[in-house]
Amino acid sequence: MMRRLSCQEIRDKWVSFFTEKCERKHKQITSASLVPDNPTLLLNAAGMVQFVPIFMGTKPAPEPPRAITIQKCARVGGKDSDLENIGRTTRHHSFFEMLGNFSFGDYFKKEAITWAWQFVTEELELPVERLYVSVFKGDKQNAPDHEARDIWMKVLEKDFPNEGLRTARIWQMGRKDNFWGPPGATGPCGPCSEIYYDHKPGTPIPELNSEEFDNRFTEIWNLVFMEFNKDEEGKFNPLESKNIDTGAGLERIATIVQGVNNSFETDELFAILKKIKELINEDIRTQNEETKQSKIDAKHSYGELEYTGQKNNTTIEEYLKIVTDHLRCASFLIADGVRPSNIGRGYILRMIIRRAARFLFILRHKKASPLLYKAVADLVKQYSKAYPELKTNQEEISSVIKKEEEQFSQTIVNGSTKLQEELNKLRAGEKLDGAFAFDLYSTYGFPLELSQDMAKEKRLEVDLDAYETAKEAHSRASGTGAFDKSVESNTFVAKLLK
Ligand code: SER
Repeated sequence: MMRRLSCQEIRDKWVSFFTEKCERKHKQITSASLVPDNPTLLLNAAGMVQFVPIFMGTKPAPEPPRAITIQKCARVGGKDSDLENIGRTTRHHSFFEMLGNFSFGDYFKKEAITWAWQFVTEELELPVERLYVSVFKGDKQNAPDHEARDIWMKVLEKDFPNEGLRTARIWQMGRKDNFWGPPGATGPCGPCSEIYYDHKPGTPIPELNSEEFDNRFTEIWNLVFMEFNKDEEGKFNPLESKNIDTGAGLERIATIVQGVNNSFETDELFAILKKIKELINEDIRTQNEETKQSKIDAKHSYGELEYTGQKNNTTIEEYLKIVTDHLRCASFLIADGVRPSNIGRGYILRMIIRRAARFLFILRHKKASPLLYKAVADLVKQYSKAYPELKTNQEEISSVIKKEEEQFSQTIVNGSTKLQEELNKLRAGEKLDGAFAFDLYSTYGFPLELSQDMAKEKRLEVDLDAYETAKEAHSRASGTGAFDKSVESNTFVAKLLK
């Protein structure tokens, strides 16, 4: 029977397992900043990013040559952004925490697999019958990872003595799922093995990678066996020292061990969501009181928001989740030195604060005054033990968010009205003119993603090519390249996001 663990207890277990209990003691290394020390990267999207120079052999390995981290990751902006799924699925976020253990030429597959199984079954106490694993099945370029499969067969023997049942627990999957890297055109890479949790045991396994499969199984941990160096000709040469790079999603694990419907109901995120809901409700009560006193429309009043936690997301719940997600990501970005701007990561920060502000505007019945910043203190309370930089920067975080909300509140009413008028003119299948969407950003501060949200609410789309053309024309005219393309063309990040 698994025990309910808070997010902090999971972090603590992670650290104590690898630094004390594990056969080989690891050293904990602090999470790298969300602003990576790598010019080709917009945001830090994986635990291995800070170790790229060690894997590439351009920096010596630490002593001992192994480490663990709890890495702050952001996957927002660019083609592979998770933005669309946030609040709609049970597990997507713009910011998340990745638990990782790393070997720099030290241990390899056998140890990584053995310890991963030990951690999930003994420390997290996940029931073994809920767990499945995958290995690389091989393709024209790389051989099947029989070695990993054989190790899993041995490791699973104790829990599944029947060979047939054991074999059925080990799925063979293709390159998309089970071959990771390199994080650029060339460099270290290798097959990987993933651990999945079954939410609906006892029924036949759906086709791997089908929609039904994705809804039923959560991938909780990716173990990458970095054994090759891909060269410029595309050849995979064995690496002299073989490395391990693993990544487990803290929020995904917490959702499972806390037995909740989705990651927003896990302890730390839910405390923030509840605070945001309460702030909105206070606001609604004030609006109702004012209406009553004005006696113009005394009978009219707005209902307060509820979060019932049903499996079927309501629009209100979806918006509350998006706002919660964006506040968390924005706060961590600000603590790491990002400030709102029109380019690169500054654009991403601006976009997520404004996106949260627009959903708040809807939830508050078109009230636009700043509100999000008021939840910063609660967020810091939840996260400052693990991330003291939030406490140190608390005032700055709330003032940056408040200022951005203030700026946007001056244009959100006019911008939304204009966009709504334009969308009303369109018929099904037509696209919103991208030049109009760009103009909305440059005039009303409406990031493209907000126009896309509003278009989507009416089952329409924005013409992205026309948006690009308008943006380029603007950059040429201003001569500054004020609207950066890097948000859309971050191929390094795209590769990391597999
Ligand atoms: N680099 C791998 C990932 O991002 C494992 O940490 O999933």
